[in-house]
Amino acid sequence: MKEKFGATILQSEALAKYILETSAYPREHEQLKELRNATLDKYQFWSLMNVPADEGQFISMLLKIMNAKKTIEVGVFTGYSLLSTALALPDDGKIIAIDPDREAYEIGLPFIQKANMAHKIQFIDSDAMNILKELLTKGEEGTFDFAFVDADKENYINYHEELLKLVRVGGIIAYDNTLWAGTVAASEDDEMDDYLRGHRRHVIKLNSFLASDPRIELAHLSIGDGLTLCKRLK
Ligand SMILES: C[S@@+](CC[C@H](N)C(=O)[O-])C[C@H]1O[C@@H](n2cnc3c(N)ncnc32)[C@H](O)[C@@H]1O
Repeated sequence: MKEKFGATILQSEALAKYILETSAYPREHEQLKELRNATLDKYQFWSLMNVPADEGQFISMLLKIMNAKKTIEVGVFTGYSLLSTALALPDDGKIIAIDPDREAYEIGLPFIQKANMAHKIQFIDSDAMNILKELLTKGEEGTFDFAFVDADKENYINYHEELLKLVRVGGIIAYDNTLWAGTVAASEDDEMDDYLRGHRRHVIKLNSFLASDPRIELAHLSIGDGLTLCKRLK
């Protein structure tokens, strides 16, 4: 299959290709490359659900700058962002990774194991909301350094409330796909496919909500399909 350049907000495919081929792919960890290729073989078009390599590297550097040790991931799929996270954490780091789709996780698992990262990961095949609530009842409030949310868009605002309790003050919650292929800036009459149209309003609502949330410092980045970083202030 012709290589896709991931979910990117860049309108120029040539520029997306340039960034990946010049900067990201030459520095991509061998097992991330293998996981990306195995995902492409198995899922073809939908392999674009993996974060692109440049976004994975951004997340990885951010985690290292933060000295993050304990994280949550909501929406794992085959685990590209998960392995990028695991590689950035210290050897005793821990990730709670939640996704009801165990089959997809198992496509990426051999590469996670080959990279010697499996011991950092607790994969839970479940709907994320139940698990976030369970973590709170187990006394995990304020114990996470970082959360990455890349799953059901209609629940992002609900996840935000739970994650603001689970992530420590000064920690970061990152929301993926917050530019939704650029459709957040389109008008309702513009042509777009049904999948994009279906979730667009949730992403627009989230962006407005986060922009006026005084509990966080916010940075909305045009990397990948849009990534919003929220630093917990109080
Ligand atoms: C875009 S993919 C995640 C991609 C992954 N972060 C990566 O970069 O490789 C979205 C995933 O969210 C999962 N998902 C959907 N609804 C969910 C829910 N309620 N709780 C947790 N995960 C969910 C899907 O099964 C799917 O695997």
